[in-house]
Amino acid sequence: MSFFPGRAWQSSMWRLAGLLLGGVIVGHAALGSAWIGIALVALAVVAWHYLRLWRVLRLLRERRRLVAPIGRGVWGELESLLYRRQRESLVRKRRLAAILRVYRQVAAAVPDGAVVLDRQALAIVWFNNAAERLLALRYPRDLGARFTNLLRTPRVLEWINGPDRLEPLLDLGVPGNDSVRLSLRLIAYTDQQWLLVVRDISHLMRLEQVRRDFVANVSHELRTPLTVIHGYLDLIEPDDNPEWAPIILQMRSQTERMAQIVEDLLMLSRLEEQHRLSDETVVMSSLLPTLQREAQALSRGKHTITINDEAHCNLSGSLKELHSAFSNLVSNAVRYTPDGGTITLRWQRCDDGGATLSVTDTGVGIPAQHIPRITERFYRVSSSRSRDSGGTGLGLSIVKHVLARHHAQLLIESEVGVGSRFTCVFAASSVRETP
Ligand SMILES: Nc1ncnc2c1ncn2[C@@H]1O[C@H](COP(=O)(O)OP(=O)(O)OP(=O)(O)O)[C@@H](O)[C@H]1O
Ligand SMILES: [Mg+2]
Repeated sequence: MSFFPGRAWQSSMWRLAGLLLGGVIVGHAALGSAWIGIALVALAVVAWHYLRLWRVLRLLRERRRLVAPIGRGVWGELESLLYRRQRESLVRKRRLAAILRVYRQVAAAVPDGAVVLDRQALAIVWFNNAAERLLALRYPRDLGARFTNLLRTPRVLEWINGPDRLEPLLDLGVPGNDSVRLSLRLIAYTDQQWLLVVRDISHLMRLEQVRRDFVANVSHELRTPLTVIHGYLDLIEPDDNPEWAPIILQMRSQTERMAQIVEDLLMLSRLEEQHRLSDETVVMSSLLPTLQREAQALSRGKHTITINDEAHCNLSGSLKELHSAFSNLVSNAVRYTPDGGTITLRWQRCDDGGATLSVTDTGVGIPAQHIPRITERFYRVSSSRSRDSGGTGLGLSIVKHVLARHHAQLLIESEVGVGSRFTCVFAASSVRETP
């Protein structure tokens, strides 16, 4: 933009000077006074400019579309500037609208449902076609409606109002359609809004069910032949056939190991199948000595095993499952601690009202790179070391499943050659005070 007067401005000045000169001549000749002529000319010029100004203001006020300017002078220049601005903003608006249309089409074409929610009121701001189909939303009826009023299930309410709402909610049924299973995931994409991503995971859940059924059926079917083989092997006396003795003992220990794997797999299948958790009171003051006795039996006096009951409270949940999880941790501590080591079970209260059970050993420890994967099924740090100790790699996955069912967490700390600590962290809601 130039700060110097343009050509239109200069020609206007010339025109004004000409008019004033004309006013002087006409005023002097016709009216007897040059000043009257000047005053009349000035009045006419002001009136004309006022009229032009009023026209421009009216155009702007009424937001009318300007036609290509044909006027000359300063007003012509002003009009052409306004016309240019209006064209530019029109082009920009059209370009933005086209981009928005493309985004909308992309969002609508995505197979996953997307719902924009207001964080405060949980009101629906926008949703795509897939969300309309998956959640039975209606456009525009449901815009502005509270999401939890439309999907009013206890699981959704608990999840969206709970502290873990950024974790996906899996395997959610849709009211009125049992065959569809959904996963919901909240993404905090601005300070005011959530993006809720809804995914149809029915196919995945069906495959998962097939896998679970397969593992459960195979384990169940293997049980009987294994019992028969084990029974016959027990009948053969190694002393009667000295040359077969090592083979028979080896076969016995391997069938026992297979039977243990089958039992562990069945236990995992049961944990996965059972949706309801029993609500017993697990009395820790009697469970802890039981765990100690089991550890002593396994250790055969080769380790020092101590228990510290500092929490003096109980747990709510399934006694059978928690007993199985804790004994897996204790048996690992015994197995992976060389003779003469110490194993400590500590039951402690947390500041937030929760409680922790930790099993600490002075054993071989676990290299840091194995810790993230150690709770996977059949995962062992060193297969030779685990095979020596008769392990199959299912113990910690049982622990993980049981703790997840009790809304608890497993923390693993370990240092190679120093020892390990496995801590089960229970929330305050799982703790029951002793009467
Ligand atoms: N306290 C521990 N100290 C050292 N290593 C451990 C400890 N607990 C577990 N591990 C390692 O983690 C692996 C997985 O443990 P997990 O209990 O799942 O299986 P496992 O003990 O081999 O077999 P099982 O199914 O009989 O329990 C073990 O093979 C072992 O290498
Ligand atoms: Mg184990």
